[in-house]
Amino acid sequence: MIEDIAEIQEVTRKFERVGAHSHIRGLGLDENLRAMDVADGLVGQKKAREAAGAIVRLIKSGKMGGRGILIAGPPGTGKTAIAVAISKELGRDLPFVQLSASECYSAEMKKTEVLIQAMRKAIGVRLKSMRKVLEGEIVGLDYNMVPHPYNPSMKIPDSATLTLATKDEKKSYTLSGRVAMQFMQEGVQIGDVIMIDRESARVARLGRSGRGDKSYDIDSRDIVPVPEGSVEKEKEFVYTVTLHDLDEANARRPGLLSLFGDTGREIDNEVRQAVDDQVKEWVENGRAELLPGVLFVDETHLLDIELFSFMNRAMESELAPIIILASNRGFARIRGTDIVSPHGIPLDLLDRLLIITTEPYTKEEIKEIIRIRVRESNIEIEDQALDYLTEIGEKTSLRYATQLLAPASEIASLNGNGKVTKSEIERVEGLFVDVSQSSRLLKKWEQEFLQ
Ligand SMILES: Nc1ncnc2c1ncn2[C@@H]1O[C@H](COP(=O)(O)OP(=O)(O)OP(=O)(O)O)[C@@H](O)[C@H]1O
Ligand SMILES: [Mg+2]
Repeated sequence: MIEDIAEIQEVTRKFERVGAHSHIRGLGLDENLRAMDVADGLVGQKKAREAAGAIVRLIKSGKMGGRGILIAGPPGTGKTAIAVAISKELGRDLPFVQLSASECYSAEMKKTEVLIQAMRKAIGVRLKSMRKVLEGEIVGLDYNMVPHPYNPSMKIPDSATLTLATKDEKKSYTLSGRVAMQFMQEGVQIGDVIMIDRESARVARLGRSGRGDKSYDIDSRDIVPVPEGSVEKEKEFVYTVTLHDLDEANARRPGLLSLFGDTGREIDNEVRQAVDDQVKEWVENGRAELLPGVLFVDETHLLDIELFSFMNRAMESELAPIIILASNRGFARIRGTDIVSPHGIPLDLLDRLLIITTEPYTKEEIKEIIRIRVRESNIEIEDQALDYLTEIGEKTSLRYATQLLAPASEIASLNGNGKVTKSEIERVEGLFVDVSQSSRLLKKWEQEFLQ
């Protein structure tokens, strides 16, 4: 049974895989739920954003039970972007888990097990308890890096010196290698306000102090006051784990595997049941709060009939995340059957879904989105190059155009240019092909490939 909360490692942040969508802060709606032209990092696609806004309201008022969302539209029209925006609107701390339907088919796990683990990763549990903590703004953080014992080309921290400051006091600490590693993985940096549980050395990032931050993209919602009093105190420590973290902690058996995080294996249903019972008890006596997040399933047409019916049932259950499916297919055969249906989704599941559609972008919108990605990646680009990238985006896809940015900027800096020019874009365009070029080439060389 789970008794000592300190046994559990906080790993909530590691499943974010949304680098391409880091510019998105929300749906960009006004108070009447109307989409603004450009807001919260989103451009155009107004109907879809407004529909998503209405759904967020339904969720917040508890009226979405037993239902899910489908975002349907051509490739590169912002389906993933809108799913990310929905999760941002629902709350900052909520887990957002992205699963590509093809990941369900692995040699190690049953396909329904993959799906159920993803669902449980998408449900956060915020735990509270009185602990001895260190609290303050990070004003100094120096890692002492040494070569990895088994892989000298990689460096890991051997220890670190941390200096924390409150409004009244400043104190320095030495962190062990393990704790320093955790700091690095969490990505905490100077200027962050953090709380550390002394016993387990678990770190909770509370926000940024905002002192001396000048960069444009500081999210004002992230700013927190610098704590007062002494660095060391007894305080309610709040941190978030997921139901899946608790499952794993509860199923942990001593052995070699646990050295490697003991992930990627099946978990017994009794273990899950025990975790659910425990969490419900914690919720009842005020020690925990449930935070249902978002499970985003991409490439929905790759789910098969068995997974669909499993999902159908899961949506009904008490502890379910918000499920968002995405599809860029029209009519397709439901995998595992001979039935053709819209998006390859069975009709009984379609009935439960609120459907949002996305449409292709105009040239101006493509340009604006590329401009936002340019700013987000701290790249400087000449107007002519931006126009050219926009043309590429129109001709091929938005995703292809935005993907050219990073290599173009690398080449620009190799050439000693501060700004990306049209010639660098042309250069990388010649190096990397888009999907349609690639399939054309494959067709052309098919004969040779086969021999
Ligand atoms: N309306 C928008 N505003 C700002 N950025 C956007 C918008 N739509 C898409 N993007 C960005 O453009 C890129 C491509 O969009 P995205 O991946 O969301 O498309 P998609 O519809 O999910 O494509 P696919 O069908 O290939 O999965 C991403 O970096 C995304 O964040
Ligand atoms: Mg997508």
